Amino acid sequence: MPPIVEIRRVAEHADEEVVIQGWLYNLRESGKLLFPIFRDGSGQIQGVVVKAVVPPDIFEAVRRLTQESSVRVTGKVRADQRAPGGFELDVSGIEVLQLIPVDQPYPITPKEHGVDFLMDHRHLWLRSARQRAILGVRHEIIKAVRDFFDDRGFTLVDTPIFTPAACEGTTTLFEVNYFDEKAYLTQSGQLYNEATAMAVGKTYCFGPTFRAEKSKTRRHLTEFWMVEPEVAFAHLDDVCELAEQMVAHMVGRVVANRGAELQTLGRDVAKLQAVTPPFPRLAYDDAVKLLQAKGSEIQWGGDFGGTDETIISQQYEKPVLVTRYPMDVKAFYMAPDPQRPEVALCVDMLAPEGYGEIIGGGERLADYDLLLERIKKHQLPREAFEWYLDLRRYGSVPHAGYGMGIERAVAWVCGLEHVRETIPFPRMLYRLKP
Ligand code: 4AD
Ligand code: MG
Repeated sequence: MPPIVEIRRVAEHADEEVVIQGWLYNLRESGKLLFPIFRDGSGQIQGVVVKAVVPPDIFEAVRRLTQESSVRVTGKVRADQRAPGGFELDVSGIEVLQLIPVDQPYPITPKEHGVDFLMDHRHLWLRSARQRAILGVRHEIIKAVRDFFDDRGFTLVDTPIFTPAACEGTTTLFEVNYFDEKAYLTQSGQLYNEATAMAVGKTYCFGPTFRAEKSKTRRHLTEFWMVEPEVAFAHLDDVCELAEQMVAHMVGRVVANRGAELQTLGRDVAKLQAVTPPFPRLAYDDAVKLLQAKGSEIQWGGDFGGTDETIISQQYEKPVLVTRYPMDVKAFYMAPDPQRPEVALCVDMLAPEGYGEIIGGGERLADYDLLLERIKKHQLPREAFEWYLDLRRYGSVPHAGYGMGIERAVAWVCGLEHVRETIPFPRMLYRLKP
């Protein structure tokens, strides 16, 4: 039997007989010729079936194939400059694993479908070329980010998903019954990262995070993945630079390795190629002035809404680092600026082209008394934070970090309108299925 070959590797088998295992993507018939297109997850190849050359039952079996029927195809790989991948398959045999009946066809056809229909069929929609391209870019982004930290001496430490307390505000907690106690699904691994940073110096976690976000926007999921570095002895400027380097590396890797996917998505690659350090810095104070000049109602002290972020990020070709927001709009753990205690030593990175916040972070409050005061002010249960206070009792040092939401990054890099396409099975306000 000829070797089973992945479509992406057919070039290594020119003029040889191979077996391809996959699904029928499309079928065109032209008189005594059939042109089935097969896909196998690694790529796509057009087959050619000539009536005069193959046994009648083979010709008939291919002719009757329906979209997404599963097959094992035998054929000879032939170079053809006109073919999309540079090769075609002269089909000589076929084994049909499952023929999808004509009266119960595959539900997703090349015609337009509504978003709700596609989301309900997400388990099948993932097979389409566009969704496969997004999955490829997502993979590249995750791999690039992990390589970035691994190559710089960071230790990957996993943080828990069941947690006893809030990290990012009590209004977006998912509560679960943990035997006879209340627990919450994690909103961020940060607090635990701070503990491990004191153990290993430079750490990062990468895992799922949960927010009971009642907002139905193109940027919000209730379950999303976050990569979070945390560095002992680092200050705000250090993490601004780290974030800038990481994002440039990540975008560079996608451009270098995922050209085909970006093309499938119709992404303007020049816009991604412009993402090189340094990125512009913008103080919150100046961001407010900029927004007011553009007609926004925002006053100093207010947090930016999605529209505000869109306006700011449309001003730049590169991501912009917005620093020093008012303490009152940020989480309890933020370090105040010693020169201006009303603002936090924090940073949000807003992606260009109107994408808005992809990163949030900054310097942490390292002082025991101040932290305790903040915990009380935010009405957080002190007992649940005793261990966190310990980090300020025993060898406290300045430290800083940030978190990047993977889906927000994927949406921007792929140029997507909504985060729902960036994760295989999105969880949103009104979506828990499939
Ligand atoms: O700005 P956030 O809330 O910051 C934190 O959680 C910090 N504890 C991180 C840290 O310093 N270690 O969230 C960080 C990022 C946001 O910039 C955004 O990219 C993403 O997480 N994010 C969401 N992505 C999708 N859906 C949501 N509901 C999101 N909420 C935050
Ligand atoms: Mg934020």
